[in-house]
Amino acid sequence: MYLGIDLGTSAVKTVLVDGAQRVIASESRALTIASPQQGYFEQDPAQWIEATFATLDALKASHGEELARVEGIGLSGQMHGPTLLDANDRPLRPCILWNDGRSAGECRILEQRWAALRAITGNKAMPGFAAPKLLWIAKHEPDVFAATRRVLLPKAYLRLVLSGEAVEDVSDASGSLWLDAARRDWSDAALAATDLSRAHMPRLVEGCAPAASLRSELAERWGMVRRPVIAGGAGDNPAGAIGIGAIRPGTAFISLGTSGALLAPSDHIATNPDRVVHTFCHAIPGMWIQAGAILSAASCLAWAARLFGVPESELLAPLGPRAQAPSPVSFLPYLAGERTPHDDPVVRGMLDGLSHGTERTAIVQAVLEGVAFALADCRDALGDAGIAVTEADVIGGGSRSRFWLSVLANVLNVPIHRFAEGETGAAFGAARLGRLAVTGEAVADVCTPPQRVETFEADPVLAGAYAERLPAWRQLYRPRH
Ligand code: XUL
Repeated sequence: MYLGIDLGTSAVKTVLVDGAQRVIASESRALTIASPQQGYFEQDPAQWIEATFATLDALKASHGEELARVEGIGLSGQMHGPTLLDANDRPLRPCILWNDGRSAGECRILEQRWAALRAITGNKAMPGFAAPKLLWIAKHEPDVFAATRRVLLPKAYLRLVLSGEAVEDVSDASGSLWLDAARRDWSDAALAATDLSRAHMPRLVEGCAPAASLRSELAERWGMVRRPVIAGGAGDNPAGAIGIGAIRPGTAFISLGTSGALLAPSDHIATNPDRVVHTFCHAIPGMWIQAGAILSAASCLAWAARLFGVPESELLAPLGPRAQAPSPVSFLPYLAGERTPHDDPVVRGMLDGLSHGTERTAIVQAVLEGVAFALADCRDALGDAGIAVTEADVIGGGSRSRFWLSVLANVLNVPIHRFAEGETGAAFGAARLGRLAVTGEAVADVCTPPQRVETFEADPVLAGAYAERLPAWRQLYRPRH
């Protein structure tokens, strides 16, 4: 038995997976986000622990026998958020999240301080990433900075609580801007640029390698026979890749979660930081992931549902199975700013082309199309780095909408594949990493792709209509700085 724990942004999800890779049970607990100012997003690390423990306590109650037999645990996590700990490993302040835009000025300072940043990390300095947030804290909260003894990403903090050990995997670490992405090790120069050193950082391991063991008192609390091994795990996107067997070049996929991404595993680094392509180490040795990342994806649909005061399913139902033509309305999905390709934390969303006759369905369709157009920008940024996306799988909550998948196929003009609901996602990928850390099996034997249940092909007429619309959609973006 294996456990996958995904410390997401909106929830902690824990899955219990058996030796035949069936999900036996899953539990999730919601998390809340604090926004103390426009563009600021924070979370209290205590919530992560409470939510994780609640999922495990619930699994003990419902599946105690299976939980007792857990041998390996994998962690997946929201990326980029530094959790600052004092000398007693207590959090000094809330974690500043991946979608927080406050440290744009610090990004410029960081790139001036360390000219090799893009070449070594494979990424542009962006406010979502961890390092510029430390410069912001040093400036605005010097006491907190001075008291900081350890800097851990969210799931490494969770691992510290679960095991007593500070260990991070290289995929999550690549979202910090402190990692030498080619060497898969901390960069001393990167750390020095934020007045930190290796002493502040956790030990690094590969995602599928053993990292620590569950504390004996916790193993007892959950009735486990042995202390399970905790694998390195992965950032949520690389963990998602593991969950669907995207472990080779040419296995691109789209994630439609709170945030969105178009991700392409590769056996070499193919960066394009100028167009905001992200470089992450994969959760398996010798592989990397290049990605275009957008800050709002399924969260745009959630926003529309809140606005109209109806559940998402009710918004989607009148659209039918597929679009007949592009919506007369256009939507920029920059509700929390944007990363690829603009790196613009202050831009905001837009609805264009509204009239007295505009129906709700036209707006909802525009919202889905706007996210698809943003992913077309990601596709083109990856293309400039030499990575051609010729087909893509889709994971995340948004993949439940067949209408949305058909829009994606037509906007991107490539086949889009849908999996059966269930055994995909970051928590499932994390459980696979937990298994690999215990068994040492060949990665390809464990990380097999789930069954594709449907493929959405582009319709030449509709794809042509979207291709014509794309330049006008791009024109709507006006940088505010
Ligand atoms: C990736 C990113 C998000 C977060 C939260 O760069 O910022 O995917 O990991 O899901």
